[in-house]
Formats: sequence, structure tokens, C-alpha cells
Amino acid sequence: MGKTNQATSGQAAPGQAAPGKIDPATILQRRLYTGAAIPAIGLGTFGSDSVSAAEVAEAVRGAAQIGYRHFDCASVYGNEPEIGQALEAIVAQGIRREDLWITSKLWNDMHGEEDVIASCRQSLSDLRLGYLDLYLVHWPFPNFHPPGCDVTSRSREARPYTHDSYMKTWRKMEELVELGLVRHIGTSNMTIAKLKLLLRDARIKPAVNEMELHPHFQQPELFQFVLDHGIQAVGYCPIGSPGRPERDRTPKDTTPVEDPVVIEIASQHGIDPAVVCIKWAVQRGQIPIPFSIHHYRANLEGALSDPLSEEEMQKIAAIDRNCRLIKGQVFLWKAGQAWEDLWDMHGEVTPP
Ligand SMILES: NC(=O)c1ccc[n+]([C@@H]2O[C@H](COP(=O)([O-])OP(=O)(O)OC[C@H]3O[C@@H](n4cnc5c(N)ncnc54)[C@H](OP(=O)(O)O)[C@@H]3O)[C@@H](O)[C@H]2O)c1
Repeated sequence: MGKTNQATSGQAAPGQAAPGKIDPATILQRRLYTGAAIPAIGLGTFGSDSVSAAEVAEAVRGAAQIGYRHFDCASVYGNEPEIGQALEAIVAQGIRREDLWITSKLWNDMHGEEDVIASCRQSLSDLRLGYLDLYLVHWPFPNFHPPGCDVTSRSREARPYTHDSYMKTWRKMEELVELGLVRHIGTSNMTIAKLKLLLRDARIKPAVNEMELHPHFQQPELFQFVLDHGIQAVGYCPIGSPGRPERDRTPKDTTPVEDPVVIEIASQHGIDPAVVCIKWAVQRGQIPIPFSIHHYRANLEGALSDPLSEEEMQKIAAIDRNCRLIKGQVFLWKAGQAWEDLWDMHGEVTPP
């Protein structure tokens, strides 16, 4: 566990979990700079275009029943109304709202100053909630592209990232906190260069940065940067997103669950390689949000069961391939650009 990533014991009142359930009080919590605690593992809710909204909502319901309390949602996933019905049922069955951690995200075509609050209110209404625990700017690029479009798709209205424009959006995010609609705000798909500017100018600094993190894409510099600045790292695609849409695949992509090191450790523990990825993530100090409709129990149990040894953690640290799976090609704003431009590879924000 990283020194800077302080963990606490669970917040919920300890109690006997019913058979087949995991006592949420036994789930590690991570501390945000505000003092709030966030469960160290959550359930992703992006159905990758292949899992229906109803199936995802059913997984949310089932996951809450067995002990999950943290759900990573987004308006663009197209399933917040169905998840809202599930959340309403979960609370009606006796799980207190304050024991849930619900994240949602502002989509890229809603960065306009007049759109941010409206978009958040829409997510609140769809999710049937009075407040969100966390609201993220999903991507720093204000570009519309139609759902399901190909990686070669480019919008005519595509605009470059500029810090001024991001700050206008961020000011509205800050207003959401002041209005009491959200408890925390955060970023996603950011770089160190962009975060430095945001940290310089924000009145309310991000509590969380959501970023791709798995054994083949460990992002050590960005990961350490956020922890050093009191920001928790939520890790998406923790298993390497084996179900991601075809449009998000390239021939050079690698698969962490097929890595011999991960497979060997899995066989020694008698668990699935996917669960090794989850255990590694939690022990490293990031907050994985695996999506699952079939394996969510194994993932939560795996996060809580016998830890990986220091030697196993080091073996996984050594298999980083710097292999970004979610490259963001559709956000490019001018002809001839490569996806690397989105990620400020030279340490400076890529000029417009
Ligand atoms: N901020 C962003 O820009 C961003 C980008 C991408 C994703 N996300 C968030 O991160 C979440 C997770 O990412 P992801 O869904 O792309 O990828 P992922 O969690 O790495 O992979 C999900 C896939 O892994 C399978 N799986 C899960 N647990 C397993 C296990 N124990 N054994 C075998 N297979 C297992 C699932 O299948 P089953 O359903 O069959 O279990 C599903 O197909 C998303 O749902 C979303 O909430 C955020």
C-alpha cells in the first residue's frame, strides 16, 4: 500500500453479513482529501455496447445485495434511468443512501457553461438521487461524436483542448458542489500537464482522477502524481476490458489476463487471472471499478481474500507494457493527428 494513499477501515456499522453476502464494513475504504471515504473497489457500468441497460441494472441490484456499495456510472453509458430504478429498489430494501458511493460523468458535448448543471441534474433525475458522491469531467475534450462510431470518425465541430475552455467547464463543476448537487468533483482521462494547470487554477481541486490502469498499463508517473497531490486514482479497464467494442481495439493491444505472469499467480492462488488484476489494483492503492454481470462476486471476494505477496506484486510491476487500450482517437481535432497527441506525451499540453 502506498504511504500516501491512506486507507481506513470501513465506515458502515460492522455487522454479521447474511450467508452469501459480504459485509460492506469489511471492504477497504480510501480517504479523500475532504475526509470522505470511498470504497476501494466499485462496479463499472459501461456495457460496451453489448450488454443491455436492463442487464447492467440487474448487475447493480445483485452486486449491492452481495455487498458492493460503489457504482461508476455515466450519462453516455445510456443506462442511468435503468440503474436509477435499481438504486431506488436498493434503498427501498434498506441500504442507506449515505452508505452508497455513486459516481456519474459529464459527457463531452455538455461542456458548455449552460450545459454542465443541466447535465448533472439530468443524471440525478435518471439515477433517482438527490446528490452524487462524485461527478467527473469524462474527457477533457469538448467534442461530440455519435455513440458507437468508429475510431476513424471525426466530428466537423471537433475543437482542441484548451485550458481556458476546460476551466470554464470546471467553474460550473465547482458550482455543482456549492449547490449541494454533488459532494466531490473530479477528472478523467487527464495528463500530468493538464492536471498541473487545473491544480494551479481550481478553487475546488479534483478529489479523484479516473484513468486506465491494469497490469499492462500501469501509468506509474501519473499514478504517483495524483497520489502526491492528494487525489485518489480510480482505475478503469482493470481487467484490460476483454469485452470492449471492436472499435476500441488495435492489433498491437495486449491482454493482461493472458500474461504468463498473471496466469501463474492465478494458478497458485486458485483464482481467475482477472481476479489477480483486481487484487493487484487494490493492493497497489488504486480503486478498480471492474465491469461485470457474471463475475462481480468473485471480484469482490478476490479484493478481500488473502493478499498477493510482495514478490507477486513486484512480478506484476515488471510486466507493464505501456499499452493504452482506450486511446481516444475520436477526440482528435485536426487532420493528420495521432492519438498520442491527446496524451501530452512530451510533458506539455499539445498545442491547438
Ligand atoms: N472514465 C472513462 O473514460 C472510462 C473508460 C472506460 C471504462 N470506464 C469505466 O470502467 C469500467 C470498467 O472498464 P471496462 O468495463 O471497459 O473493462 P474491465 O472492467 O477491465 O472488463 C470488463 C470485462 O471483464 C469481464 N470480467 C470481469 N470480471 C471477470 C472475472 N472475474 N473473470 C473473467 N472475466 C471477468 C466482464 O465480463 P462479465 O460481464 O461476463 O463478467 C467484462 O466483459 C467501465 O464499466 C466504466 O464504468 C471509464
